Amino acid sequence: MLIILLGPPGAGKGTQAERIIKERQLAHIATGDILRSAVKTGTTLGRKAKHFMDQGKLVPDELVVELVKERLMDPDCVNGALLDGFPRTVNQASFLEQVLPNAGFGIDRVLSVEVDEKSLIERLTGRRVCSDCGASYHLKFKAPQVRNVCDRCGGDLFQRDDDALGTVKERLQVYKKQTEPLMDYYQEKKLIDRIDGNLDVEQVYEQIKKILDQI
Ligand code: AP5
Repeated sequence: MLIILLGPPGAGKGTQAERIIKERQLAHIATGDILRSAVKTGTTLGRKAKHFMDQGKLVPDELVVELVKERLMDPDCVNGALLDGFPRTVNQASFLEQVLPNAGFGIDRVLSVEVDEKSLIERLTGRRVCSDCGASYHLKFKAPQVRNVCDRCGGDLFQRDDDALGTVKERLQVYKKQTEPLMDYYQEKKLIDRIDGNLDVEQVYEQIKKILDQI
């Protein structure tokens, strides 16, 4: 099974991905997480990607497609994968179609999680992430029990650099220009399902579950 989670920054892709992979035993391929980890460890990929990520721009396709190609060959992808944040351009989508046969998959569904812009800004600027385990919180919607401390591991919570208001606005513009065309691309292929992402986390997941149950 191969599922794509499509949606603007802050739509809740990562939040829903956690539930989907647990229930469906899928590998989680989140290009943002992979890139952030490369930046943290200072690899060549990370050094090249940082400049773009800090500005809220997309990392060039040629860097991202290579990492996805390799990741799809990892043993944990044998039962299928959930792509979270990839593809993000039509060019990345056509690359994916070329490499999927080698990985033994076709795309089952593309879930487009849709949220109004005001909520996206509120979600992103209020997000806090654990510096140790990566767990994600929100000052209003998912506050930790102790301020700035991770419930799961006790690590410190921080705000992602790209969640500052100015960068969030840039990311939303980039999404509109470079990623939204994918909606038509997958609509033509009759692969897309629209999810109302404005609802609470459980209600969003219910919609996703109904679709996955039909595959
Ligand atoms: P990436 O990490 O993928 O960021 P993104 O797509 O901008 O998405 P986010 O992680 O910000 O949001 P999300 O939709 O996962 O929301 P979340 O569940 O966390 O990419 C970062 C950067 O990497 C890019 O800008 C780019 O530079 C680069 N990059 C990555 N992939 C690339 C690619 N393919 N090509 C080129 N460059 C690439 O939720 C957000 C907040 O809202 C949380 O606090 C959460 O608790 C809260 N929340 C979630 N759901 C709800 C709900 N239903 N109600 C209330 N609050 C909610």
